[in-house]
Amino acid sequence: MDITEIEHWNVVGRKLAVSEGVHRPSTFSALLAATLTDCRNLVVVDAGCGAGLATVAALAAGARHVIAQDYDPAALADTARNVTDVLGPEARRRLTLWEADWTMLTPMKADLLAVNPPQRPSSLLPDVPEDQRHLHSGGGPDGLDGIRTVLSHAGAHRVRTTANAILNLTEASTPGWSAPRKVAGADLPLDPSWRSVVPDLRGRVDVWEFHRSDTHPQS
Ligand SMILES: C[S@@+](CC[C@H](N)C(=O)[O-])C[C@H]1O[C@@H](n2cnc3c(N)ncnc32)[C@H](O)[C@@H]1O
Repeated sequence: MDITEIEHWNVVGRKLAVSEGVHRPSTFSALLAATLTDCRNLVVVDAGCGAGLATVAALAAGARHVIAQDYDPAALADTARNVTDVLGPEARRRLTLWEADWTMLTPMKADLLAVNPPQRPSSLLPDVPEDQRHLHSGGGPDGLDGIRTVLSHAGAHRVRTTANAILNLTEASTPGWSAPRKVAGADLPLDPSWRSVVPDLRGRVDVWEFHRSDTHPQS
């Protein structure tokens, strides 16, 4: 992955409005956004949209429609505002907001679902500042429970997810989905809460794509 593309999305991410308690776009967010250049004419679900960086990236790349989904209404409000501020009213008309849990994703038969799930193994959570812990819990003992939940419930044809390379993503493989295919990767600075497993706080982060095992990959 071209580092200047990731840096572009880091810059956009820093400009987004982020309400208290909403996830501030991270280097993982920017990496995911940088992969969404192939969204022209697609219907995309941004699962767990946070402040909406992936939504902005998919709309900017020409997505026909984006469904920004999160269980936090403040995240949805931030996403709507950020799409209008960054891309304008035409892009806002291609956006639907959906307040829902990942367990409700099944009916959404989109072309592509993009997600940057919580992925701190639960042993790292005490090292996450308390006011941000709710954003990083849910990965479970191996960090993969978030992506497992998405794969178990997604109705989309493809699921694209970020994963810290220290996670064993193949363990998240779920019936009905192919083995993951790597879409992109980069060496990125990591949040201090990763220190006990990545001491120098710089590590490989990858973006992987699962496709339904009964359909052919579309890209
Ligand atoms: C790590 S943040 C990523 C936010 C954004 N996609 C980004 O990359 O900047 C994860 C987001 O998923 C949402 N989330 C976590 N678990 C969820 C669930 N079970 N159902 C719906 N949203 C969830 C959180 O509220 C948060 O906004």
